[in-house]
Amino acid sequence: MIVLVGFMGAGKSHVGRILAARLNLPFQDVDHVIEERTGRRIAEIFATDGERAFRDLEHATIADLLKGPRAVMAFGGGAALDPRTQALLRTTAVTVHLRVSLMQSMTRVGSDPARPVLARPDLPQIYAWRSPVYASLADISVDTDDRTQDTVVKEIIRQLDLLTEGNDRSAGGS
Ligand code: S3P
Repeated sequence: MIVLVGFMGAGKSHVGRILAARLNLPFQDVDHVIEERTGRRIAEIFATDGERAFRDLEHATIADLLKGPRAVMAFGGGAALDPRTQALLRTTAVTVHLRVSLMQSMTRVGSDPARPVLARPDLPQIYAWRSPVYASLADISVDTDDRTQDTVVKEIIRQLDLLTEGNDRSAGGS
């Protein structure tokens, strides 16, 4: 599994879709899967059931998808913060952190009402405490600021190749 993590506006869904096509793998967008399976929008789940309930649903969906066929998956921005999900990532996925500055993130997503976390007054603090968590989970980290999605995809593929070569070498014992 190849899992894209990072803050809102990092480009996880767009980059993930292109990456999956290049690697000839299916693409799964966790937020879309949740919306499809529940028949409800993410913002509505947040508003009606609360964030805790959304996080449980998000984790259960991810755990299920990680059991499925190999794919490129885009997580929602908060998904990788769940310790249960982190444990699964460590054993089942190559985790790709798409780095984005808070400023570019805001330029890209603005004040999207579909993203309830954007309305939080402590958004800069959320960004500050999430960033090192994404970084600590990452097998690969790629900057996205001022880069096209195509450049980001190429860089991910380059780093995936390096990772595979490294694994092959260690498997060969040299
Ligand atoms: C969230 C990010 C959203 C979505 C939900 C919560 C977050 O996904 O999962 O609104 O906590 O950062 P994107 O990162 O795709 O915007």
